Amino acid sequence: MVIDEDAQRRMAANRANWDARTPIHAASHFYGRNLHHPENWFADFEWHDLGDLHDRDLVHLQCHIGTETIALARRGAHVTGLDFSAASITEARRIAAAHQVQIDYVHADVHDAVTELGTNRFDIVYTGKGALCYLPDLPTWAAIVHDLLKPGGLVYIAEFHPLLNALGPKPTVGSDLLLRNDYLSGRGPQRQDSTHTYTDGPALNTATVSHEWRHGLGDLINALIGAGLTIRHLTETDALPWQRWPTMTQDTDTWWRLPPESPRIPLLFGLRATKPEHRLPIDVDHGPHVVGPGIAQLDQAEEGMTRKAAT
Ligand SMILES: C[S@@+](CC[C@H](N)C(=O)[O-])C[C@H]1O[C@@H](n2cnc3c(N)ncnc32)[C@H](O)[C@@H]1O
Repeated sequence: MVIDEDAQRRMAANRANWDARTPIHAASHFYGRNLHHPENWFADFEWHDLGDLHDRDLVHLQCHIGTETIALARRGAHVTGLDFSAASITEARRIAAAHQVQIDYVHADVHDAVTELGTNRFDIVYTGKGALCYLPDLPTWAAIVHDLLKPGGLVYIAEFHPLLNALGPKPTVGSDLLLRNDYLSGRGPQRQDSTHTYTDGPALNTATVSHEWRHGLGDLINALIGAGLTIRHLTETDALPWQRWPTMTQDTDTWWRLPPESPRIPLLFGLRATKPEHRLPIDVDHGPHVVGPGIAQLDQAEEGMTRKAAT
């Protein structure tokens, strides 16, 4: 699918909706608290998956007001943040300056990222925690990610699990979680008209309409493979960086989990994929089957790239 006019119109509504949410988010305790310790929005496994960020060229797609972006920069990466909400980018620049962190922020739609970022190519593309649901077509997005990466580069997606998006709305204490929304894609965009945003603070009084697209985990994995990327590792976890439902309790690691007697279900995932050092022939008809060197060989190629990028 190309991004057709209907999808463009829906993304324009999303842009206005994010512009309207931004002042509320920037003034919220939800973001304010986390900006004091932005690294808390990353699980240990994410830092492990991202590896040593020192001197890495990293782009954070759909960075909003830059909470994760700051944490990534503090780990030593040369960070660019990109978002299509002008209000978000203005706030992100203000917040980075207040925290004395050097980040280049670019105001652009992710679909224009290759053009807007000029000749810059990255060791790492990072995205997630509420990003993919605003993208109408993952194969289109995955091709952009591929083009933004240097050969051997890493894309890391830390995203709410499609199962979490299928559960809801928020149950009251004592009630069970229910499946209420699609897990799988296929039903097209989902329109919402709500004055509510997910932070504390006042209600939205303008641009209340937004649109989301459902993507199953298979859609994401196949989109990355279809773009020529190699899947390296997938972690599914039962923990979230904030309290999604009132029944969740905070762990010693500051993340939130459902009560121990609840079924263990994935709420967030972290997916590592790499761009091959050399272009591989890809069997697009058979989706998951990538023809090319085995994983061990690719790991060696990646190692070589890692050393090269670090020098
Ligand atoms: C929930 S935030 C995700 C960032 C971060 N994880 C957070 O929670 O603050 C979603 C962001 O995606 C941005 N966004 C949505 N669609 C976009 C697009 N097509 N191009 C660029 N940014 C987009 C919105 O402006 C918003 O800032």
